Amino acid sequence: MYYGGDYNPEQWPEEVWHEDVALMRRAGVNLVTVGVFAWSRMEPAPGVYDFGWLDRVMDLLHEGGIQVDLATPTASPPPWMPADARNVTASGARLMYGSRDTYCVHSPVYREHSRAIVSELVARYGTHPALAMWHVHNEYGSACHCEHAAEAFRTWLQRRHGTLESLNDAWTTAFWSQHYSSWQQITPPMRTQWHPNPAHVLDWRRFRSDAMLEHFLDAKRLLAPTGKPVTTNYVFGSWVDVDHWAWSCEVDVIAVDHYPSSPETADEESAFAADLARSWAAGKPWMLMEQAAGVVYSGGRTLPKAPGELARHSLRHVAAGASGVLFFQWRASRGGAELWHHGMVPHAGPDSRTFREVCELGRTLGAISSADGARELLGLAPSRPAEVAIVWDDQAWWSLQSPSLPSPDLDYWEAMRQAHRVLFRRDVAVDFVSPSADLSRYRMVLVPCLPPISDADAARLRAFPGTLVVSFFSGVTDEHNRVRLGGHPGAFRERLGIRVDEFRPIEEPVKLSDGSTAGVWSEAVELRGAEAVAHYPDGGAAITRNGNAWYVSTRLDDDSLDRLLFTHCA
Ligand code: GLA
Repeated sequence: MYYGGDYNPEQWPEEVWHEDVALMRRAGVNLVTVGVFAWSRMEPAPGVYDFGWLDRVMDLLHEGGIQVDLATPTASPPPWMPADARNVTASGARLMYGSRDTYCVHSPVYREHSRAIVSELVARYGTHPALAMWHVHNEYGSACHCEHAAEAFRTWLQRRHGTLESLNDAWTTAFWSQHYSSWQQITPPMRTQWHPNPAHVLDWRRFRSDAMLEHFLDAKRLLAPTGKPVTTNYVFGSWVDVDHWAWSCEVDVIAVDHYPSSPETADEESAFAADLARSWAAGKPWMLMEQAAGVVYSGGRTLPKAPGELARHSLRHVAAGASGVLFFQWRASRGGAELWHHGMVPHAGPDSRTFREVCELGRTLGAISSADGARELLGLAPSRPAEVAIVWDDQAWWSLQSPSLPSPDLDYWEAMRQAHRVLFRRDVAVDFVSPSADLSRYRMVLVPCLPPISDADAARLRAFPGTLVVSFFSGVTDEHNRVRLGGHPGAFRERLGIRVDEFRPIEEPVKLSDGSTAGVWSEAVELRGAEAVAHYPDGGAAITRNGNAWYVSTRLDDDSLDRLLFTHCA
C-alpha cells in the first residue's frame, strides 16, 4: 500500500528536505511524487540542465526508504519556452506564462522540448533505486485553438470521416449554411456569433482527448526501457477533457485526484470516485493520487475536514481496491498560487491536528493488507463482485455541455452521482462500464443519461438479457449528435416497448401516482407493449416496464429511485 503525496522540494531550502524525510518516516510515507511542476528548475534555459538538486533529493529519499513517483514536468513549461508552445484560446488570443498549464500538445516545439526533458529524466534516473513509477504530466486538459491544432484536427477528421461529404452529413452542415467545400475551411470551434455546431464540438472534444493521449504516449514510449509503470493523474469533476475508457487502456496505473465538494457528501463522493477509478482500471492497479489533507472545497470556501474524515475518505478508496493513497501536497507552500492549499504538513508545522491525523492514517494503512481490511474498519461487509453496472460515457457528457439542449437542467454529473449514490447507500457493489462493454456478468444495467450512442453500442445494450433501467434523454441521438427519428428514445424504444413524441421539461416537482417525487423533465410516453407503473398527475405514463426493461421518463428524487430499483426492479 502506497502512502504519501506530491513533494515539491524545489520550493524549500535544502535544510527543510532533511526534516521532510524525517517527518515522512514518522508518518509512514513510502511514496512521493516529485517534480510535477519543476521544469524551470530542471532546465533553467533551453538545453541547459540542472539536476544536482534533484540528485540530492532522490538520494535523500532513497536513504530514508521512500520511493519516488517521478514526474515529467510538462504541464508547466518554463517562461523560456517559445510562444508557439503556448495555447491559443477560442477567441484567437495566445495565453501568457505566469500560471501553469499553458501548453499546446500540437505545437512541434513543445513536443520536442517535452521529449527532450523526458529523455533527460530517463537517462539520469531510469535506474535510480528510489524510482518506483513515472508520473507523466499533470491532469491533462488544456485546449489550444492554434494553427497546429487546426491542422491536426483536420487530419484526425479525415481519418474519422473519410470524405468531406460524409463529414458534412455527420455534422448536419446544411443547417445555418455551414457546408464545407474544402478541408482547409475546417477549424477548431472558434468563438463565433451564436451557438456552435454540436457535432463539430463533439468531434473536437474527441480529437482533443486523442491528441493529449498522443502526448502521453510519446512520453510513455521514452519511459518504457526503464521497465517502471507509468501513470498520469485524472482530474475528477466537471472539467472532463479525456475519454477515460480510451486512456485507461494505455495507462499502467490509473490515478485519480479527488477533492469532495462538500463535507456532507464527501463520503459518498469518495465512494463514487473510487468506483469510477476501479472501473477505469479494469483489473489494473489504481490509486488515489491527490486529495487534500485538511480541507473540503465547498462553494469556493475551504472548510477543514472534521476529525477522522481524512482517514475515512482515504479508506473509502482502499475499500474499493486502491493500492495507494496520496495527497496534494506533502508540505503546504509558503507562496505561489496555491499558498492556502493544505498540506500533510500544514503551515503550522508538524505540531498540528492535520499532521497527527496524517501519522495515524499512516499507521492504519500500514496495518491493512487488503480492501476488505479497509471495509472492516468502515464497518462494511466483505467486498463481492458487482452485479450491477452503470453506463458511463465521457462523450455523452461532452454532448451535454452544449448550449443546444432542450433544458438547462440536464445534468450528466448529477445523473451519474445519483445512480451511484442510491446504490452506495444500500452498499450494493457497482461497476461503471463503457457503452461498448461486455455486460454478460451483470444482473442489472442502469443507463442514467446517454444521449448520443452509436448503432453498434445501442444494439449491444438492447440485447442485454438482464434488467435494463433506462432514464430520460438516453439513446435520443446518434454518435454525431443527430436526432434518432420516429419517436424517442430512438435507440431503445423497441426494447422498452414505448414511444415518446414530446419532451416536456418541468420547473416544479410533481407527485407521481405511486407516490414518487419527480422533477426537471417529463415526457408524453405512448405505451407500445410496455405497462405503466407510475403516472404523471395528468394520467400520462411516467415509469414503464416492458418485461425486464424499465423506462424512467423523469428525474426521480433519491428515495423514489431507491424504491424503483429495490422494490420494483429488484
Ligand atoms: C490539482 C492539481 C494539483 C493542485 C490541486 C489543488 O489536483 O493536480 O497540482 O493544483 O489540484 O487542489
